Order: sequence, then C-alpha cells, then structure tokens
Amino acid sequence: MSVLVTVLSLSALATVLAALVVLADYKLNNYGVCTININDGTKSLEVNGGSSLLSSLASHKVFIPSACGGKATCGLCKVTLVESAGPVLPTEEPYLSDEEMESGVRLACQLKVKHDLKIMIPEEFFNVRQYRTKVEEIKQLTHDIKQFRFKLLEPQAIDFRAGQYVQIDSKPYDKITEAVSRAYSVSSVPSEKNAIELIIRLVPGGICTTFMHNHVSEGDEITFAGPFGQFYLHEGGDELIFIAGGSGLAPIRSLVLDILEKNLDKKIKFFFGAVRRRDLYYVDFFRDLEEKNDNFTYIPALSGATPEDKWDGEEGLITDVVARHVPDSVGKQAYLCGSPGMINACINVLSKIGFGKEAIFYDEF
Ligand SMILES: Cc1cc2nc3c(=O)[nH]c(=O)nc-3n(C[C@H](O)[C@H](O)[C@H](O)COP(=O)(O)OP(=O)(O)OC[C@H]3O[C@@H](n4cnc5c(N)ncnc54)[C@H](O)[C@@H]3O)c2cc1C
Ligand code: FES
Repeated sequence: MSVLVTVLSLSALATVLAALVVLADYKLNNYGVCTININDGTKSLEVNGGSSLLSSLASHKVFIPSACGGKATCGLCKVTLVESAGPVLPTEEPYLSDEEMESGVRLACQLKVKHDLKIMIPEEFFNVRQYRTKVEEIKQLTHDIKQFRFKLLEPQAIDFRAGQYVQIDSKPYDKITEAVSRAYSVSSVPSEKNAIELIIRLVPGGICTTFMHNHVSEGDEITFAGPFGQFYLHEGGDELIFIAGGSGLAPIRSLVLDILEKNLDKKIKFFFGAVRRRDLYYVDFFRDLEEKNDNFTYIPALSGATPEDKWDGEEGLITDVVARHVPDSVGKQAYLCGSPGMINACINVLSKIGFGKEAIFYDEF
C-alpha cells in the first residue's frame, strides 16, 4: 500500500514539475510585442517576440539576403545593430570579421527578437519584393539540370541587375514538412521584365531542388523574393573573363546577354567547365552568340572526356584551360561562378596570371 502511495505521489510531483516547466518556458519565452526600428526610423515594425530577426522582418515584407534559408551556412543575412543585443553566438562567428563584431554586425537568422531592436540595413533591401509567379515552362537541360521559366503574376514586373539572384520558396512535400527558401541566380536578361528564368541543378537529398525537380509542374504557382546580390558588372575592365561550372552558368548567361544587348564596348571570353559531354548545355546557344558577335568567345572544356563523347574541343581542368587562353591580366576583370572548390582553384590561377583581388568577382554555389 505504502509503495503505491509513494508511486502516486512521485507521479503527481512529476506532473506538477512538468506543468511548471511548461509555464516557465511560456513565461520566459513570451517576449510580448517588440519594436524593430530600421535605419533611424525609416521603418518601424511591431512584431511578436520569440522569432528570429530574419523571419520577423520577412513577416513584414522586409527581405534580407538569406541564401541558406536561415541555416547559418551562407553568412549573407548580416544586419548592423545600433544597440547591443547580447553576445555573438558561436554559429555566427565564422561569418563575422573582428571589425564587424565590434561594429555590431549580426546574422539576422541567428538573432532572436526578445526586446526592442534598432538596426541598420542597406537601403537597397527596401526594394526587394516578394513575387507570386506561374511556372510557364520547364526544360530538361542535362541529366540533372532543369530550366524554369516563371511568369510574374503579382507584381507583374521586376527590376534586377544581370548576375543577381532571387530566393525561391519551396512547399512541404512527401515527408518534408518544412518550407525552405533557397537562392537561384537569374539566367534571363534584365530587359525582360515580366518573366524570369532560373537554372536549377538537382542536389541529391536537397529539399528545394527535389521540390523543384520532382514536385513542380508547368502551371503551378511559386513565390520568390528578390533581387539580391552584388555579382553584377563592376566598373572597369575592357576584357571580361567569365568562368563557370554546372548551374553557375545561370548568372553568366544573364551577364553576357545584358552586355551584348547594351552593346557595351567589352571583349568577353566565357569558359565553361564540365566533366563529360552530357554535362554541357546551351552549347548551340553560345556558339550562335559567338558567330553573331565578334567580341564574344565561348570556350567549353571537358575534364573527363571519353571516346564515347566524340569531343574535339578543349580538354583538361578549367583552370588549365584558362591559363592557356589568358596570358595576362592587363585591362581585364574575371567573374567566376560555381562550386567553392572550382572558385578557389580559379582564384589561385588568376592570381598567378596577375589578377588582383579587386579584379576578381565571384558567387559560390
Ligand atoms: C548566391 C547563390 C546563388 C545560387 N544560384 C544557384 C543557381 O542558379 N542554380 C542552382 O542550382 N543552385 C544555386 N545556388 C545553390 C542553391 O541556393 C541551393 O543551395 C542548392 O540548390 C541546394 O538546395 P537544396 O534545398 O536542394 O539542398 P539542401 O536541402 O540545402 O541540402 C544541401 C545538401 O545538404 C545535404 N543535407 C541537407 N540536410 C541535411 C542534414 N540534415 N544532414 C546532412 N546533410 C544534409 C543534402 O543532402 C544536400 O547534399 C545558389 C546559391 C547561392 C548562395
Ligand atoms: S540566412 Fe544564411 S546565414 Fe543567415
């Protein structure tokens, strides 16, 4: 009997303790309504405390670049706090320099809104909009790359600079219960304002790319936010060296088309690196551009061609191909887009040729 009483008393105590923990959690995490003051009062938002600064801003249609969707792996969601909001978290440290930490820069996806905040963000972020679109066309470009064309429904037009990206919102599917947001560079030309095109490579096990490749059909509605990014044409450079691999072709296509359309007085060499013939795409498109434009040279190269590929073009690592075709850096700028490994290797080669840091621009995928 006394054992039964003890067991019942202990379980009652456990229930009370659990209830207290829930109550304490609710009380401690109930931060009430907090005010976010942006750029000295240019905008002032009232948000329910407890969420990340990134999602709190997004819920009021203030969009900060967040290519990784808040996973603390891109380091793009930087904002400056006018007043401190506690110590920098270990997840933020890899992305912040000492000067940034001293001047109050934080990652908006890692910072929870627990009280009123005063922040500064670049003015251009106020131009970022969320777009409702209809998938107009899907084309299979290679075994793992698809091109998507989105007709803009609301707003119906977008202003962006060639080389910039947008952030696509996925939707839950199969066992994936979360909706994520991921960055994709626009591959179409900015003069086309009512539609954009994206080139998306399927990442095995990737949430957004599996959604786009396997769960999106022509006619579906998709939303994205944008435009974001600084991978656009910068001042200077009579000759532009573009180097891309995989889906890194996307922003380069937009840049090349924009430059040719505007008739800018620049020579362009576009190096595209792939392993096998089946990884190449847009070959006829760029060969056609080359034929029609004296200033444009297209150099696709394969690093793992086999006889089956019947390839008589450039062979070798893209870095070696670039080194063969670019003898010096005089009057040149380089724009690189692809995997971090490819970009690092290209920067090494370009530095040896004589390119300074100020003449090399890149977007890592
Ligand atoms: C500025 C910018 C522009 C970009 N432009 C393009 C573009 O034009 N085209 C393009 O194709 N891509 C582009 N990207 C890349 C793109 O944003 C995505 O990172 C990419 O498509 C993968 O997204 P995902 O959601 O499919 O993969 P994620 O779900 O983010 O997964 C990425 C990888 O992590 C693995 N992973 C996921 N979750 C876990 C887990 N819990 N444990 C272990 N591993 C895990 C996955 O298997 C996968 O290998 C761009 C990126 C940036 C930063
Ligand atoms: S959104 Fe990528 S680090 Fe914050």
